[in-house]
Amino acid sequence: LARGVGEPDLTGRHVVVSAGGTREPLDPVRFLGNRSSGKQGYALARTAAARGARVTLIAANSTLPDPAGVDVVPVGTAAHLREEVLRAAADADAVVMAAAVADFRPVTYAAGKIKKKDDQEPEPIALARNPDILAEISTGRIRPGQVIVGFAAETDDVLANGRAKLKRKGCDLLVVNEVGERKTFGSEENEAVVLGADGSETPVPHGPKEALAETVWDLVAGRLG
Ligand code: CTP
Ligand code: CA
Repeated sequence: LARGVGEPDLTGRHVVVSAGGTREPLDPVRFLGNRSSGKQGYALARTAAARGARVTLIAANSTLPDPAGVDVVPVGTAAHLREEVLRAAADADAVVMAAAVADFRPVTYAAGKIKKKDDQEPEPIALARNPDILAEISTGRIRPGQVIVGFAAETDDVLANGRAKLKRKGCDLLVVNEVGERKTFGSEENEAVVLGADGSETPVPHGPKEALAETVWDLVAGRLG
């Protein structure tokens, strides 16, 4: 794209990025979680700030240092993440959901630590569905012209799964990466295809998470006009 190096093309824009992985508590010492490191979301926040945007980073359980010049809002659960994303999205030009949001949460939270009993098999954990934040902000469209971006990690028929998910969610762009045994989680690098609701496909070759972040912002900036 025709962007000069270091050109602050997101000046005057407010962008919201979610990062990390939510944790759904079972009791005071245990949770259901996932392996998301937060690195891709933090790279998105850093690069948007460097391009002039005001950035709100909703960070779920990340241990990464706060990026300079970015508003960081720490969250724990999917419900908490949803609350803060909705709040920040109200006046945002773009929302990028890079966080790994738990699909389910335990139905009950034990206020005291769950103890094992010598003469009993463990109880199964009953789960309830969490709200789909990306679908909610995409179909609800809090603000006209807002650009909404999702992420999807897929296996098997990666592109077909990605296309179906883009449609289901109703977002403008979906960054699809293939996951496997040694791919993506915790790594410094990424490889992806960015699918557009307009039918576009932008491949991003294997490289640093910053490079993928720059491509995402190129596509977002193009849609903001
Ligand atoms: N997402 C969300 N709220 C959820 C689950 C996911 O906002 N409750 C967002 C993620 O942040 C991501 C996108 O939706 O940007 C896709 O997440 P993914 O887990 O791939 O989608 P799911 O619809 O949960 O599909 P799957 O059954 O494949 O996990
Ligand atoms: Ca999911």
